[in-house]
Amino acid sequence: LDNGVGKTPQMGWNSWNGYHCGINQELIEQVIKSMVSTGLRDAGYKYVNLDDCWQLYRDPNGTIVPDPTTFPDGIVPLVEMAHSNGLLFGLYSDAGNETCQGRPGSLGYETIDANTYANWGVDYLKYDNCNNDHIRPQERYPIMRDALNATGHPIFYSICEWGRHHPWTWAPDVGNSWRTTSDIEDDWEKMIYNWDHNGPYFVAGPGAWNDPDMLEIGNGGMTFTEYKTHFSLWCIGKSPLIIGCDINNMSSETIEILMNTELISVNQDPLGIQAHKIREVFLKDDPSIIGEQVWFGPLINNQYVLALLNRKQDTTTISVTWQELDLNPNQTYMIRDLWLHQNISISTGAFQASVQKHETIVVQMIPYY
Ligand code: GLA
Repeated sequence: LDNGVGKTPQMGWNSWNGYHCGINQELIEQVIKSMVSTGLRDAGYKYVNLDDCWQLYRDPNGTIVPDPTTFPDGIVPLVEMAHSNGLLFGLYSDAGNETCQGRPGSLGYETIDANTYANWGVDYLKYDNCNNDHIRPQERYPIMRDALNATGHPIFYSICEWGRHHPWTWAPDVGNSWRTTSDIEDDWEKMIYNWDHNGPYFVAGPGAWNDPDMLEIGNGGMTFTEYKTHFSLWCIGKSPLIIGCDINNMSSETIEILMNTELISVNQDPLGIQAHKIREVFLKDDPSIIGEQVWFGPLINNQYVLALLNRKQDTTTISVTWQELDLNPNQTYMIRDLWLHQNISISTGAFQASVQKHETIVVQMIPYY
């Protein structure tokens, strides 16, 4: 969607994966402080987004009212606190009569809600799909797009339709990103499922991103290696990087992953081209299960990102030739490992690496003369 925002995938924090409905003013104030003190803001994570359950009812004029118990001062002081700390602020609503947790939805209230968000200074709207009266999303989502546009206030528009109506075919002109799958969970299988079912790479680009859902890194259900793979894939996939953990208490491993500035640069590369699958190999003893994959995509300055993903239970060697990547076989590249933060080889024609169980080796290929 060409509304001036989302030229690179959105980065920030959202309350859902870590807190569900257990959100309140104090928590969000603490999150805003932690975004700054941890360095997350300076690494590029700009949005602080409330998910479901911040709203309670509509007043007699139809204006949405924040839950007075959990947000006694309303939303505006939080927006102002975010802005004065160099951050942006987001809210959540639903393109139906009620949100997924039964709070008031925006169907029929699009203009009044868009104006409220704009008046409050809100910079981002995640727009969910529950309780939608079986009206097609292709009809409901553009109404809010137009209402947001009409406010004149730039608001990132994040469509949350879960991929059921193939949003990659209609959403690029409607929203800045669209969910491609059902909700992620904090485990390897569901994370990989969402990655496998992400939208096609060629529809995404500046202002319009496939969204395989928010990050689970730091929530405890995957190993360090698996969380590194989760982050690697979301970075090469130009997926939104929306943190979903308790950033007030992050382990050093969580910080190491979320603050991998080299991978963040891949995610935020101005070309905005999602990596695509070059090859996958199924298990010999069970051809329904994917064992390894090679992912590849272009970056600015004739550079590339290459990812070798091992989905098996044991260590394996994955190799790739320039021919498979459609590159000149005589071109030499400096190979830089984006987890080791080191140049690991100078290669012409082919590259290979040993990859551990559930690990992803991500390298940047830099032309070398
Ligand atoms: C849906 C969305 C989630 C979250 C919840 C909130 O399930 O897909 O991301 O917003 O609703 O109720």
